[in-house]
Amino acid sequence: MPDLSTNTGGIQSPNPFWLASAPPANSGRQIQRAFEAGWGGAVWKTLGVPIQNVSSRFAGHTIRGVQAAGFTNIELITDRPLETNLREIAETKRLFPKNPIIVSLMVETEAEWREIIKKSIDAGADGLELNFGCPHGMCERGMGSAVGQEPAVNERITGWAVKYSTVPVLVKLTPNVGNIVPHGLAARRGGAHGVSLINTIKSIIGVDIDRFIPLPRVGNLSTNGGYCGSAVKPIALHMVAALAREKEFGLPISGIGGISNWRDAVEFILLGSSTVQVATEVMLRGYNIVEDMKDGLHEYMRTHGFDRIDQMVGKAIPAYSDWGHLDMNYETVAKIDADKCIGCQLCVAACHDGAHQCIHPQQDTRVPHVDEAECVGCNLCQIVCPVPNCITMTPVDNGHSPASWNEFLHEGKTLRPKKGAH
Ligand SMILES: Cc1cc2nc3c(=O)[nH]c(=O)nc-3n(C[C@H](O)[C@H](O)[C@H](O)COP(=O)(O)O)c2cc1C
Ligand code: SF4
Ligand code: SF4
Repeated sequence: MPDLSTNTGGIQSPNPFWLASAPPANSGRQIQRAFEAGWGGAVWKTLGVPIQNVSSRFAGHTIRGVQAAGFTNIELITDRPLETNLREIAETKRLFPKNPIIVSLMVETEAEWREIIKKSIDAGADGLELNFGCPHGMCERGMGSAVGQEPAVNERITGWAVKYSTVPVLVKLTPNVGNIVPHGLAARRGGAHGVSLINTIKSIIGVDIDRFIPLPRVGNLSTNGGYCGSAVKPIALHMVAALAREKEFGLPISGIGGISNWRDAVEFILLGSSTVQVATEVMLRGYNIVEDMKDGLHEYMRTHGFDRIDQMVGKAIPAYSDWGHLDMNYETVAKIDADKCIGCQLCVAACHDGAHQCIHPQQDTRVPHVDEAECVGCNLCQIVCPVPNCITMTPVDNGHSPASWNEFLHEGKTLRPKKGAH
């Protein structure tokens, strides 16, 4: 029976699913309902000097008919009084002693950090998360991503937090940087026990094309927001993996960004996360999604022979490499299963206009023909084919032994002849 419990930088959790710091983790009653639904832990909506929010503040990005496949917000940190939040943290901790509450914090001066850390820990925080990521509003006030984008400032403030904290400190990193690694290393130098990533991506989600105002609209103006939801998962996975494979890093990671089901969670874990956090999907579908997430993870672990989460953490990292190490002589071609093909010709259009003009319509049958001698194995036809497993990318035995670009350059290994470059 697989064990879902995890440890992220010293924070024990009965399962790896945490609410991210966002509206679903805004109040005690909400987090208590989430724990009842099965969430392992929760990162409390960021505490600081309470702010005032604008209306409206969210917008969704419909991608090919999928509503809110991407999501944005221009919300700030908590707008509730600090004392109310602290009282509810204590009450929630008393009711759910086994579920970790990580308190997200964002203040400015060292004295403010010292004071809010003490109050959070006195209220029962099991861990702290330093919000160095918010890309709107707070950064204009010198906090949030303004800190996360400056390694020296990140290191200094992390150092303060670690000095004043008696519980583990996670640093929540911003994705609004060219290379995440120096920022993770800065958190490490500051003494962090782990990092969380990603916060939201600075963006403009769309424009009201009748009023000529970007979205979400606040009267006659808008501002850049923070992009999140399913659409950001690939960016988040890359940043998590970039840190997980960095030899000098070595801190636990709480992965965030576009996680909407157990499969997404498994991917984050395989690329180095020991817990995963969810915001947008809970906002769209409610706390009960965790039930399927736990069941799916459990079944995945059972069928893949994993007894514990830590056996899975980073399991796909050795296979994440630089382009120069890929085997240039590995070759696949598309093969169509004639029994499954419905003759829609989508693969023909895609290959002719977007790839290498090697799937051709045929006179006597609606099943197209792949000219394998010309197929470069790009996957495009398989991606557009609406019938599962109808097109299979099949390895070719071309007689060439493996050779990477680096081996070609530095060791004189032979590369197979190019296809589709005439
Ligand atoms: C409406 C909204 C409010 C958020 N507020 C906070 C916040 O107060 N503190 C914080 O660290 N992150 C905040 N976030 C960022 C999320 O915690 C999370 O990092 C991000 O949304 C990516 O995860 P997701 O794709 O699951 O939404 C907020 C996100 C949303 C959508
Ligand atoms: S894999 Fe690419 S090149 Fe080959 S048939 Fe499909 S679309 Fe064309
Ligand atoms: S896209 Fe798939 S189903 Fe449609 S013609 Fe091509 S192989 Fe057949």
